[in-house]
Amino acid sequence: MVDPASVQRGLEDVVALESRICFIDGQKGRLIYDGYDIRDLAERSTFEEVAYLLWYGRLPNASQLADLTGRFGQLRTLPPAMVQEIADLPAESSPMDILRTTVSALALFEPGEAKPGASSIGGAQRLTAVLPTILGLYHRRRIGLPALEPKPELSQAAYLLYAILNRAPTELETRAMDVALILHADHELNASTFAARVTASTLSDLYSAVTSAIGTLKGPLHGGANERVMELLDEIGTVDLAEEVVKGKLSRHERIMGFGHRVYKVEDPRATILREWSRRLGEAKGNLRYYELLRKVEEVVHREKGLYPNVDLYSGSVYALMGIPRDLFTPIFAASRVAGWTAHVLEEYQDLRLIRPTAKYVGPVDLAYPPIGARP
Ligand code: CMC
Repeated sequence: MVDPASVQRGLEDVVALESRICFIDGQKGRLIYDGYDIRDLAERSTFEEVAYLLWYGRLPNASQLADLTGRFGQLRTLPPAMVQEIADLPAESSPMDILRTTVSALALFEPGEAKPGASSIGGAQRLTAVLPTILGLYHRRRIGLPALEPKPELSQAAYLLYAILNRAPTELETRAMDVALILHADHELNASTFAARVTASTLSDLYSAVTSAIGTLKGPLHGGANERVMELLDEIGTVDLAEEVVKGKLSRHERIMGFGHRVYKVEDPRATILREWSRRLGEAKGNLRYYELLRKVEEVVHREKGLYPNVDLYSGSVYALMGIPRDLFTPIFAASRVAGWTAHVLEEYQDLRLIRPTAKYVGPVDLAYPPIGARP
């Protein structure tokens, strides 16, 4: 029994459940999906294979992979009413609000997919396939382009880039996006996955769980940090000013986005991989400015605060080098993490236990009830 007098603020270090999906060794900086090291997956795998791994607990063979890839291609089309809904939502809505609202509304059109239980794998694949379509529709509408073709022949990474960029991505860009999707696909009981599992643990449906997760990912302490890293780079401007700007922020006790982590006490392995991709893409595009600025920021933050980079430090630069607008960074995170959210929801359904922690009450007791006229 946990001591009722002690409170684990933010549930820090609380082991809430057993899971086979993801292991983080925060001391050694290791991340493992279903037994496979993230470095191997980022080097050799694809997002499709990783999604399969998270859902089924094993890597797909060639025919299972072809089947899943084919399903993703088929599941990219939205019902016409949903296309219209996206067109009718306020033009100034944020892309995360559009994603959350559209996923929620989609459940109304797909009641069979939304039922809790093992059949939710259909909903998991549907949502993973369709999030790039939703993002693409939203983005193309705001820049005055017509609705996109679903392009079933493209990989998820290539389709996501095509949906946003309105051009065929290069091979290097497609691989960079594939790696980013692999790296973001799961991360144990991060806040949005926990939110999804809490929702699923009430025997609510998968679409509701993903809606909860998207709302949770929206917050800047979770999903929005890479956008703010890019704002920091704008503020710094040139490498020679990095020291002064970063030290100024630290002296005002401001947080430097892209650093620190609740679980990793050393460098986040995803940051190590994305740092390399930031350099590779920067070289290919003849623009190493972001990479050089980020290296300097890293040096100063580590020296002054002992903090290590997390996944968000370099991901924004990778996306920006491909020409992706900043407000789509967090939605891209969602387009990847949806595989992890749904894998956790499926796991929750298999071993369901209502998630309901308890609070230490610090308010008064036994107050005398005052009549309304006697209240201040
Ligand atoms: N910049 C400056 N100081 C920091 C930072 C930072 N980014 N992160 C932590 N600290 C300091 C913090 O001020 C505190 O110092 P002190 O003990 O002197 O008050 C100490 O480090 C511990 O911080 P904490 O807030 O108790 O640690 P946490 O485990 O609650 O925070 C975090 C984790 C990610 C919210 C935090 O590191 C942070 O705000 N980072 C910036 C936002 C960010 O990059 N978020 C992306 C996280 S990775 C994506 C994901 O996996 O979701």
